[in-house]
Parts: sequence; structure tokens; C-alpha cells
Amino acid sequence: MAIVRMILAQRRLLVVCLVLVILGLFGIAFAAPSAAAQKVELSVDASKTGAKINRNLFGQFAEHLGHGIYEGIWVGPNSTIPNTRGIRNDVVAALKAIKVPNVRWPGGCFADEYHWRNGIGPADKRTITLNPNWGGVIEPNTFGTHEFMDFIDQIGADAYISVNVGSGTPREASEWLEYLTTAQQTTLAKEREANRHPAPYRVGYLGVGNETWGCGGNMTTEYYLSQLKIYSHFVRNFNPAQQEKDQMLKIAVGPGGGGPQWEEWTETIMQAHQQHPWSWDMDGLSLHSYTVVKWPPAFKSMEFAEGEYAQILKSTLEMDDLIHKHSAIMDKYDPQKKVALVVDEWGAWYAPLPGSNPGFLAQQNSLRDAILAALNLNIFARHADRVRGANIAQMINVLQAMIMTDKEKMVLTPTYHVFKMYVPFQDATFVPVTFNAGTYTHGDITLPRVDAIAAKDKAGKLWLEVTNVDPNQPVEIALNVAGIAARSAAGEALTAPKVDSINTFSAPNTVAPKPVSVKAQGGGKLTVKLEPKSVTVISVE
Ligand code: AHR
Repeated sequence: MAIVRMILAQRRLLVVCLVLVILGLFGIAFAAPSAAAQKVELSVDASKTGAKINRNLFGQFAEHLGHGIYEGIWVGPNSTIPNTRGIRNDVVAALKAIKVPNVRWPGGCFADEYHWRNGIGPADKRTITLNPNWGGVIEPNTFGTHEFMDFIDQIGADAYISVNVGSGTPREASEWLEYLTTAQQTTLAKEREANRHPAPYRVGYLGVGNETWGCGGNMTTEYYLSQLKIYSHFVRNFNPAQQEKDQMLKIAVGPGGGGPQWEEWTETIMQAHQQHPWSWDMDGLSLHSYTVVKWPPAFKSMEFAEGEYAQILKSTLEMDDLIHKHSAIMDKYDPQKKVALVVDEWGAWYAPLPGSNPGFLAQQNSLRDAILAALNLNIFARHADRVRGANIAQMINVLQAMIMTDKEKMVLTPTYHVFKMYVPFQDATFVPVTFNAGTYTHGDITLPRVDAIAAKDKAGKLWLEVTNVDPNQPVEIALNVAGIAARSAAGEALTAPKVDSINTFSAPNTVAPKPVSVKAQGGGKLTVKLEPKSVTVISVE
């Protein structure tokens, strides 16, 4: 018996040794210590509400630039790509899902060289022009006024028309608006009817020029101000349904960044507005600010490392300071905040993709861009009392796009998913959030580890967005909710294996949102784990 017990004991020892050897061999793969989650307490009191997060903060921008319009939206009625009156069905369906509030069109720099008459009438008779700003390519004008209005109608958005101040005239712009909006039987209305749209169109927003200090005419502030007064007076919306409550809002050209010359621009326009007589007015002042780090854009949009991730995010957070500065100037002249600050061009601007036409501003869109989008949307939401509009540049195939297309193929970018996850924040009421999550450091760059906003929707549901900027460490959020019952919660998170992960036509779901588990423990206490480099949206009710 003793011998049998000895043999069995030796066998057990052998098995244990074998297991240890195997674990030793594979141990590195299995047992690599995963970074410990940082514990962060986050409190939100749903009874303490702030400004409305205007749905127009989620606006889009579509310029005649590269494949933004042609191929991206417009394929023509004879295309084999499924379309409705020439407009891609796949793109329309994707955009409907993110509830685009408005689309700014036709530019951009293009707007100040655009003559609307070139883009109406039978397609085969339209004037063919050039697009000198963007690659010097042919502009066929097949996508014009009616095609744009049809497109925004298909996606359920408002029109934000940017009129030509740089090389056009007040008469040209005022006739365009009459053509679009009058219900009376003028010659222009009859022409619109002959072009198969008898009913007046609704135009929600009017951009009085674009970057008139640069590509829109190289104007001084004073010169632009004189133009603004003229255009604002003469370019009218005649739509009878838009005369009372639903008036068209006029957006003046604002600053193109921070620094004394830009502050002076804001100061001059706002001061003039404070003293303005009844005959001209503006409802918004634009701000253009791209995340670019240095000019010309040199950062790669794909195949980059953590250093570039940290640099770009540091740069994008400057948006907050910029808004603070221009809002403070606006407050001096408009303490009641009647004039909105409209960030109608923002987003990441990287080096053109190798092999692409540099004038087409084609770039990839990675997980970094999703995080960048969330950080900017949160900045806008925190300034929602003054910032009531923003348009990311640009909607399809250009700069920080929502959608990329290649002939019949289409892919949704990481930025698209962020816009979709943020839909519940459209027109919700801002709710303050308090937390201290510490910092994330890479080299000499230190950033806040976590960013968060909260809002209450019309049904009383609380929505929370939490971004974990740290690409290496997860975060465990202990959430204390007051002001609502907080009986249940659900959420989804967007992350991917690497900061430069992208979606491609062959692998479209590398960066796509997935459900995340939120544990409600009663008494308004919830916990949720945030993956490194992630965007998470949670609903609590
Ligand atoms: O979005 C690209 C260009 O950037 C726009 O046409 C112009 O307004 C800005 O400089």
C-alpha cells in the first residue's frame, strides 16, 4: 500500500510540474498584468439643470470639395449605385440615423466663388465652371440648389446656405433667397416652379460669407462689417411660414482662431451689433478652428503612435479656451447672449492621404478622431448658453468625415458613431457633473484622464457621456445620481484595439459601439467600467 501511495504522490507531483511548465511557457500571453482600473467618483444631480444643448451643435458641413458632394452624395439619376433622384440611398439612410440638424453648403472657400444660377435648370444645359480652391477641377454644377434642397429634405435636416460675399453681389444673394423662398408669383418664383418646385423652400440659416478675412475676400474687419450690414439688410427670406417664430437666422463671419487680431475681429463686429439700427441684424457669429497643431497639416491620419495621439488631443482641447475668450468679448456687448457663437467649421485636419489629390483634403478617420469629436462636443455642451451651433468639417470623404465612399462602397467612420451615440443629447438640458479623475501623461504632455457631460432629455431620462482619454488604463466609475430614481441604466461604448484603429471597406466594424454593463446598486449608486481610449454613453432612469 505504501508503495502504491508513493507512486500516486509522485504522479501528482509530475502533473503539477507539467501544469507549471505549461503555464510558464504560455504565462506571458495569459498572465500579462492588465493595467489596474483607476477608480473615479462621478456625481450628477439631475435636478440642477443648465442651458439647452441646441441640436444644431451636431450640424454638418458639405462643400464642393474633393469627393464631398460628387460621389459622396451625388451620383446622378442614371448611376448603378442605388439613388433617389441622383442622391445616394446608402448615404441618406446613414445620415438619417444621426439626425443631422442642418447642413452648411456650398462652402467653405467654394461659397465665395459660387454663382447659384450656374446650378439650376436642365442638368445638360448647366454652365461648367472650375473649382480653383480645391484642386482646380471641373465643377459640373449638376448638384445645385434643387439637388441640395432635395438632399436635406431626404435626410430631414435644415438648410444652412452660405452666400457669396467675396465675388458675388448683394443683388445676386438676395435674388437667390427670393428664388428659394417667395410664395408670391414673381418671375423668380415662376422660374423655380418651371424647375419643378412650386412651393417655397424653407431656409433655416444664412451664412453671410465665409472666412471673408481669408479665402472669402481678404477683407479687413471694417470692410467686412460694411458688407455684413448691406447683405444682412437686403438678403431676405420671404417664406410666409418663416416670418414669425421660425425666422431664418443670419450668421456673420467671425474669427478664425485665438490671438489679438481675432479678438479684435469679434470686438468690432459685436460692438457694431450692439449699436445697430433696425435695418440690419445678425443672430450668430461664426468661429472656425481646426485641430491641426501646425500649418500646413503634417500629422498622419493613420498609422501613428501614442505620441501623436496625445499631441492632437492636447491641441483639440484648446477649443475650450478659444470659446471662453470670444464668449467673454461677446458678453461685453451682448450680456443677454442673444447672438449665438456658431463654430461652423471644426475638426481634425491632417496631411492628405498618400496618393490622393492634395486639394481634395482626403484623410483617414481613427479611434483618435472619435475621442477628439467627443471632447469637442462636450466643450460645446458646456458652453451651450452661448454656443448654439457647430458644423464639423466635413460630412463625407473630406477632413474629419462621418462617411467614406468609394464608388458603390460606403463605410461609417469612428466619428460617425460618436455622432450617433450623442443623438440623445440633441436639445436635451445640460446637467452639471462633478468628478476628479486625475491626469494621463505621455512624455511632456499631460491631459485630463476623463471627460464627462450629462443632460436630461424631454422624457426626464438622464444621459451621461464619459470619455476615457487614457489609452492604457481602464477607469472604474462610481456614479452617484441624485434628482431621479436611477432604478435602471444601460449604455454603449466605442473603443478599439489601438488609438489608430480605423474602419475600412473590408473591415467596417473595427471601431463600432458595443453594449456596456452598468450596475445599478440602488440609492442612486451605479458602477461602470470604461475601457482605455473609449467613449461611453449611458442612460439612467
Ligand atoms: O474645410 C476646408 C476649408 O477650410 C473651408 O473651405 C474653409 O472655409 C476653411 O479654411
